[in-house]
Amino acid sequence: MNAITPMIEARDLRMVYNQGTDPVLALDNVNLDVNEHEFVSLVGPSGCGKTTLLKLVSGLASPSAGHLNVDGKRVSGPQKKIGFVFQVPALMKWRTIQQNVLLPAEILGMRKAEALERAQELIELVGLKGFEKRYPHELSGGMQQRVGIARALIHDPSILLLDEPFSALDIMTRGQLNLELLRIWSERRKTSLLITHSISEAVFLSDRVVVFSARPAKVLEVVQIPLPRPRVPEMRVSREFIDLVDHVGRLIGLEFV
Ligand SMILES: Nc1ncnc2c1ncn2[C@@H]1O[C@H](COP(=O)(O)OP(=O)(O)OP(=O)(O)O)[C@@H](O)[C@H]1O
Ligand SMILES: [Mg+2]
Repeated sequence: MNAITPMIEARDLRMVYNQGTDPVLALDNVNLDVNEHEFVSLVGPSGCGKTTLLKLVSGLASPSAGHLNVDGKRVSGPQKKIGFVFQVPALMKWRTIQQNVLLPAEILGMRKAEALERAQELIELVGLKGFEKRYPHELSGGMQQRVGIARALIHDPSILLLDEPFSALDIMTRGQLNLELLRIWSERRKTSLLITHSISEAVFLSDRVVVFSARPAKVLEVVQIPLPRPRVPEMRVSREFIDLVDHVGRLIGLEFV
């Protein structure tokens, strides 16, 4: 990939779901570029089409119209270069934490010794050293989300897609996992696309926040977040931070009047 090609390039994307009698227009003329190593958040009203956009980027679904390139190539199906963190980690309860993290490696046929080594490294990266042989029910919700993040990184994807990964967590665990995610991102620098309903989370983590309209999702505004990095919790009370949160909040609020 050369320096000027965006890692994710969406042009006039349109997505219509045709199940049932009434077609649902989920995305309409969505244009978006995400650069390599960038952290971008997607915010917008519930049901507007955010998950749909991540599904298209991951290749789990195909757009009805428009162009979608990832790493300079047209998306034509599920791709190895993508790691997906789901809203609910959906761990397999009969597999240990280590075996859950290894699942994509098995599906992709990675070499076992190499995968095991990576799994251990990632389990440590997400702060779960010592829990390798435990089962999901023995872990808290926040710990299970960490397993979901480790699992998404096992095959060393260049892009990380995160669909509301922290929405089921209490506010303290969520704040802590925000910091963990920043640390992981600064170490691995994966191009990241995060869906969140928390505007302050989006502003705190991102280089840019993409604000979507109500369904069908259109990009209302792409808000640059010029806060310096590394981001630290104290920034959340700065004037600049509060003004950015307020700005994004107003854009979304306008969708409901
Ligand atoms: N597989 C599907 N078949 C039919 N319609 C679908 C399907 N998936 C999503 N939709 C519809 O597409 C629209 C957008 O859904 P999507 O899940 O992308 O929204 P979202 O922005 O992620 O919402 P939320 O914030 O609540 O998760 C919704 O109206 C939804 O009902
Ligand atoms: Mg969704």
